[in-house]
Amino acid sequence: MSTDADKVNADDARLAVRLGPLVLRNPILTASGTFGYVREMAGIVDLSRLGGVVPKTITLQPRIGNPPPRIVETPSGMLNSIGLDNDGLDHFLKVHLPFLRTVPTQVIVNIAGKTAEEFALMAERLAEANALAGGIAGLELNLSCPNVAGGVDFAVDSSLTEAVVNRVRKVWPGPLLAKLTPNVHSILPAAQAAVAAGADVLSLVNTFLGMAVDWRRRVPVLGNVTGGLSGPAIKPMALRLVYQAAEKLAVPIIGIGGISTIDDVMEYLVAGAWAVQVGTANFFNPTVSVKLVDQLPEALDQLGANSVAEIINSIRRP
Ligand code: FUM
Repeated sequence: MSTDADKVNADDARLAVRLGPLVLRNPILTASGTFGYVREMAGIVDLSRLGGVVPKTITLQPRIGNPPPRIVETPSGMLNSIGLDNDGLDHFLKVHLPFLRTVPTQVIVNIAGKTAEEFALMAERLAEANALAGGIAGLELNLSCPNVAGGVDFAVDSSLTEAVVNRVRKVWPGPLLAKLTPNVHSILPAAQAAVAAGADVLSLVNTFLGMAVDWRRRVPVLGNVTGGLSGPAIKPMALRLVYQAAEKLAVPIIGIGGISTIDDVMEYLVAGAWAVQVGTANFFNPTVSVKLVDQLPEALDQLGANSVAEIINSIRRP
């Protein structure tokens, strides 16, 4: 089993990033919901090259998810309404976590609860499991799933965001990440609330609410009518939210949204992200995240930068 130190030290110190208490060998992670429970990708992707992985959101009880169709391709994007289909916390602890402990990169477990109490209950059980055998480098709170009740609701309301983060902070001693929704007028109230309540890192952002219509049949394409839009189509919007949050808050940010090229990675880092999560691109190029790691040193060279840390939030603001 690799220790946290092994997972970081082995790599080029130039690429390592420290997001508060969370240390990553490089700033390239894979996003929740796009990389299964990692086992599915282990034969294809050299996981030891990644900064980290975030398995699909787990909930306290198993969920069957939303009615199909649950995914539809859109121009430069993808709409999903999976509805947090997963086998629940017990199954995760029994089946997935033992495997994830063997993965040679940082594992950030993503959870969603229906209430603040449920979030805290899950966090407490994960903390116990981690105290016994390790394997969880951080906990990401999904406060922003657009496809369920008790999803996006948390992060559109800063008092709910604060309540959830606050409850979890009391029981989860490790790095705590809050994944927020872009479906708000301003990202700042929820971002500030999450930080005030003890989040170490902000994951910005989850998907944008959207829909697709089959006009010939005059029906919505998705079984759940609406879904979350991801992929290159959302990059400019997600990038703006990262930029605006980084302008006001000193907290580390992980940028998420439409990242598939090294230019995308560099744009996010310069605009204020300390790391990025690659999501939808995994569906059309499962090894893209390793390629981005490979390309990072050359991109740093282009800026004359010695390290990733040097370029984070280095944008010239007017
Ligand atoms: O529907 C889903 O499972 C999506 C989750 C999310 O976007 O957080």
